[in-house]
Amino acid sequence: MHLNVLVLPGDGIGPEVTREAVRVLQHVAQKWRHQVTLTEGLLGGIAIHQTGTPFPEETARLASKADATLMGAVGLPEFDNAPPEKRPEKGLLGIRKALGVYANLRPVRAYASQLDSSPLKNHLVEGTDMIIVRELTGGIYYGTPRGIFEDGAETRAVNTMTYTRSEIERVSRMAFHLARARRKKVTSVDKSNVLENSQLWRRVVIEVAREFPDVALDHILVDNCAMQLILNPRRFDIVLTENMFGDILSDEGAVLAGSIGMLPSASIGDRRPSGAWVGLYEPVHGSAPDIAGQNKANPLGAIGSVGALLEYSFGLKEEAAAVDAAIEAVLRSGKVTADLRPSGVPATTGQVGDAVCAAI
Ligand code: IPM
Ligand code: MG
Repeated sequence: MHLNVLVLPGDGIGPEVTREAVRVLQHVAQKWRHQVTLTEGLLGGIAIHQTGTPFPEETARLASKADATLMGAVGLPEFDNAPPEKRPEKGLLGIRKALGVYANLRPVRAYASQLDSSPLKNHLVEGTDMIIVRELTGGIYYGTPRGIFEDGAETRAVNTMTYTRSEIERVSRMAFHLARARRKKVTSVDKSNVLENSQLWRRVVIEVAREFPDVALDHILVDNCAMQLILNPRRFDIVLTENMFGDILSDEGAVLAGSIGMLPSASIGDRRPSGAWVGLYEPVHGSAPDIAGQNKANPLGAIGSVGALLEYSFGLKEEAAAVDAAIEAVLRSGKVTADLRPSGVPATTGQVGDAVCAAI
């Protein structure tokens, strides 16, 4: 197969974790005799520095031509006080919207060998295996009106949470399809005791569920979900939720996995005419500027995102499973970065990448 992949390393630790992810991709391609064409582009703070904008038109063009996009991380402290249009994060929101990747899949697994990495008690996290399906191109992240306005003697900030029926339907369908290949359970998260957005969300999810009579559906309020994720994570299979709730809950999920450096993600849109899904793949973690350039960031979230890319954008299930198995083997071997609190000397970013390639 020919894999035409756009790589957007971004800021902070983005380039170093992406480098390992790309090595793993090339390694898989060599072993299974696929041909990879890599193109590199600019997104985030580095794009602001080089072009004046966080999501240059050239990047949009490259992403629309590529079969799949692999991203590192965006964000740099020097832009903390910049206006919204000149912030690295705007680039990420821009590319998600431009590609139309409305379903963000964030698998959260507690690997048996890594239970001690979590600050939670082993018996609580053991066996955790869920996918958070986060709506990614709607809700309060994109709603208008928005802004900070001078309103007479007062200053007022406005954000708008808005969802349409069709936005809720398509991400719900994705969640139910995924559930079918797993333990057949969807938990929809909302705040329907307060928000109209959530009332529509719940109504539409119930309607979509009728198309999937073999999948069980339950509903949970987001505040209770935050608590149950820690108290009883094994109760969750597919967690379906809107954009901002999903952002918050997935960082909480990282505590179950031992480190946010562990979490991969796949953002999926509609099918292209070729039948392939449009996909953007990125680790859940941020750019961690405090440890950037030190070769100590955990590349496993980025490497796991390569597994997702192989599976969802190219349908290469065997190759994807080999990446996941290699990650698991490396974790078992104890060759892990400092965030996972290894008993011995922590491995470097590069050593973890080497170990994953060797295990493949
Ligand atoms: C994430 C991140 C982004 C988000 C930021 C960097 C804009 O936190 O992917 O979880 O909020 O979506
Ligand atoms: Mg986040």
